[in-house]
Amino acid sequence: MRAKDFMTNPPVPESKMPMVPPRILLGPGPSAAHPRVLQAMMSHMIGYLDPDFLLIMDEVSYLLKRVFQTDANLTLALSGTGSAGMEAGLSSLLEPDDTVVICASGFFSERMIDMAERLGANVVALRSEWGQPFPAEMLAEELKRHEGVKLVTVVHAETSTGIKQPVDDLAKLVKEHDALFMLDAVTSLGGNEVAVDRWDVDYCYSATQKCLACPPGLSPVALSPRAHEVVKNRKNKPSSWYLDLALIANYWGFEHVYHHTAPVSMILALREGLRIVVEEGLEARYERHSRNSAALRDGLEAMGLVLVAPEAYRLDQITPFWVPDGVDEIKLRQMLLREHGIEVGRGLGQFAGKVIRVGLMGESSKPEYVLALLSALEKILPRLDYETAQGAGVGAASSSLAAAAN
Ligand SMILES: Cc1ncc(COP(=O)(O)O)c(C=O)c1O
Repeated sequence: MRAKDFMTNPPVPESKMPMVPPRILLGPGPSAAHPRVLQAMMSHMIGYLDPDFLLIMDEVSYLLKRVFQTDANLTLALSGTGSAGMEAGLSSLLEPDDTVVICASGFFSERMIDMAERLGANVVALRSEWGQPFPAEMLAEELKRHEGVKLVTVVHAETSTGIKQPVDDLAKLVKEHDALFMLDAVTSLGGNEVAVDRWDVDYCYSATQKCLACPPGLSPVALSPRAHEVVKNRKNKPSSWYLDLALIANYWGFEHVYHHTAPVSMILALREGLRIVVEEGLEARYERHSRNSAALRDGLEAMGLVLVAPEAYRLDQITPFWVPDGVDEIKLRQMLLREHGIEVGRGLGQFAGKVIRVGLMGESSKPEYVLALLSALEKILPRLDYETAQGAGVGAASSSLAAAAN
């Protein structure tokens, strides 16, 4: 089209999907956003340096301290999704040739390896079996071989495998080595305990679209005083200006120095999401996630489906199960979406095509969604040549929920 054609004001093309169709979001995220969060986003606009907006930011920072369970750390929200939190940590904490040890047992630690390699760091990728927690002994052995490791990283809730990584032993080893400790809490924050002070985490990052029941768009982070000193006193500026934690900390800190135009509506959304988390209570919220995922697991197992994660390390936020032999997993997911409006997740990386992942996070962690999914699976699976007794899954999940209520 020539430039002058734009001036003739042609009609706005008809939209193929004018309304966003309703969905039950039981994938790895985004999860359902809380209605109060959506309401908060409808506020009129306010300047990101307006003194009254700065008060709102201070409140977000305070509420994040509660959720990250930290008194000491600086807490703020980066513009961008969980990967922005990952990249900000790696690019601000690491300088070229610094050694970083990455404990890798899933898709998202592979992403960390890719990012750290791009930064020119000396990357020690410790790979262990997917579907199992990362073994602390492996880190202990590796740290004996190095002096002056700058950073050790691990994923707390590995969304690709459904593993909850035990943190205590790894945290102790990192401390003994005097390295910085970075923890990915994208899938756990607000749904599982994330104890930043107790575990001595120097940099912890998360995302808004999972257990915090907000839309995607911000990455809440907690930065220890020691890590803050490291980012302020680098030999060279980090390669990313936008994700420079020292600059962003100046905007969220006492002086509120301009960095970039903050996504005001998302910060309002996060404030509301965090208020809801704190009103529900952290313990009660963890308990809700645990109750609903236990019912889901009981239901899936009663249908003869096999879970990926071993019992002791199962995440409440995401439950991957193996696709039964002969079942077309793409068709299964399409039928769930088209016939029941339910989204579930596919497998990633080495689990692609082999697992289905069911997320129960934040506002999506509800008994009625567990029962709706199991009932839909009971209808669909026999049509895909997998026989299962009608009512077995729903019955087992209902019994589990009833037992938990007593
Ligand atoms: C454990 C984990 N880390 C990092 C990410 C990346 O987050 P985002 O997709 O919000 O950038 C995800 C996304 O699902 C995740 O599950």
